[in-house]
Amino acid sequence: MNPPITVSITGAAGQIGYALLFRIASGAMFGPDQPVNLRLIEIEPGMKALQGVIMELDDCAFPLLNDIVATSDLDEGFKGANWALLVGSVPRKAGMERADLLNINGQIFTGQGKAIAANAADDVRVLVVGNPCNTNALIAMNNAEGVPNDRFFAMTRLDENRAKSQLAAKAGVHNRDVSNMCIWGNHSATQYPDFTNAKINGQPVSEVITDSGWLQGEFISTVQQRGAAIIAARGASSAASAANGVVDTVRSLTTPTAAGDWTSVAVCSDGSYGIDAGLIASMPIRVDAEGRWDIVPGVELDEFSRAKVDASVQELRDEREAVVSLLG
Ligand code: NAI
Repeated sequence: MNPPITVSITGAAGQIGYALLFRIASGAMFGPDQPVNLRLIEIEPGMKALQGVIMELDDCAFPLLNDIVATSDLDEGFKGANWALLVGSVPRKAGMERADLLNINGQIFTGQGKAIAANAADDVRVLVVGNPCNTNALIAMNNAEGVPNDRFFAMTRLDENRAKSQLAAKAGVHNRDVSNMCIWGNHSATQYPDFTNAKINGQPVSEVITDSGWLQGEFISTVQQRGAAIIAARGASSAASAANGVVDTVRSLTTPTAAGDWTSVAVCSDGSYGIDAGLIASMPIRVDAEGRWDIVPGVELDEFSRAKVDASVQELRDEREAVVSLLG
């Protein structure tokens, strides 16, 4: 058995937390030989519900679950964290402008970035799920002095999985037959699910799905609006599939990517693909056998794709502008 790794999770008593903790504790995220310590962070009003979640974790008697800490103190919560999963955030309420949302969450992610820098393990990696996740990650990264920028990620894997599922259904194949799916840009309604570079059983998608009107229209809007469709159907936002996206993201960042394939996660841009250096933007990423990730070079963006990527990147620039005072 390996020594335990420590995973800090904010918003642990929320919907996604409830679907996520049990999968981490069962070994789905780090494998069957990796014990885990969970450091569960909630704000005071969430602490009672969190105690209930911990009772349920206890009742599972997970062999891999080594230790649980529940706290609303950020220093205690991020102590020794090898992974920080920042799920908690304040949702947008009726009448709230996007700028208000960015600012309220900005305060949260400023404090969390500082606490991660002061308390986490040297190898800490940070995945932001709480929305607006790209810009929240940007704020945390810019406030975590001493933690390298390449340790910060924002989640677009749920969008990638949604896109693969839509393409597979249209083509009448299985999800696993779809590869090279990349979500570009922001995790928002401007995201671009790039069907032009995706493949089905190794063939370009556009050769398998010849309905280009569907690809350029309904496919993109279905993926972009899937979150809203789930709220309309379920009366609550995606939780189990979001938690699954977190598990998939961490697994993809800790295991080598299949040859020739890539995955989507928002990372700190180095200027690749004309995306401003320093923005947290979703791009095609691959991970090598040593666990290092890099941005896949040379993915071609045709005119249609370029315009879509540019629109989403412009939204990220605007979001950065709205929180510039929080970036240190
Ligand atoms: P939820 O409202 O059920 O749970 C959020 C939890 O966070 C609550 O228990 C709340 O008490 C806690 N919280 C709030 N502020 C906190 C803070 N400062 N520190 C620690 N905990 C805090 O929400 P849910 O459904 O679990 O979603 C969480 C976030 O994930 C939302 O922002 C949602 O928009 C986002 N999301 C992101 C997705 C993505 O693909 N990136 C997909 C789905 C949801």
